[in-house]
Amino acid sequence: MNKSTLSTVSRPTAFEVQILRQDHPSRPSYWHTFRLDYEPGLNVTTVLQRIAMNPTTAEGERTTPLAYDVGCLEEVCGSCTMLIDGCVRQACSALVDSLLDDRHDAIELRPMSKFSVVRDLFVDRHRLFRAL
Ligand code: FES
Repeated sequence: MNKSTLSTVSRPTAFEVQILRQDHPSRPSYWHTFRLDYEPGLNVTTVLQRIAMNPTTAEGERTTPLAYDVGCLEEVCGSCTMLIDGCVRQACSALVDSLLDDRHDAIELRPMSKFSVVRDLFVDRHRLFRAL
């Protein structure tokens, strides 16, 4: 059994996702908060897909679609790696239930800090693939 299966913590009906966004590499970053209905078994990639489909902040402001990277959805390629609640993790394997165990009703997402930001959570990882 995993941690979320063993959890006896009651779940909120909704939770917030705080995302550090950036419109362009030369522009300053800013925070947007989104509010999603809670469902058991969500992972962070699914959360990002839902926000991208309906980019409306918790305050009801319609905003630009969210940019992020995703590939294999199997915790192999690393393209979905980001800072999730301050830890480097892969969004496709980060379970909302487990994250809410730690922070209760909010999740914080930031782009990886060792790479330059292209936009929002999408970073330039080209240097990983350059020939030595
Ligand atoms: S999409 Fe490949 S590791 Fe998450």
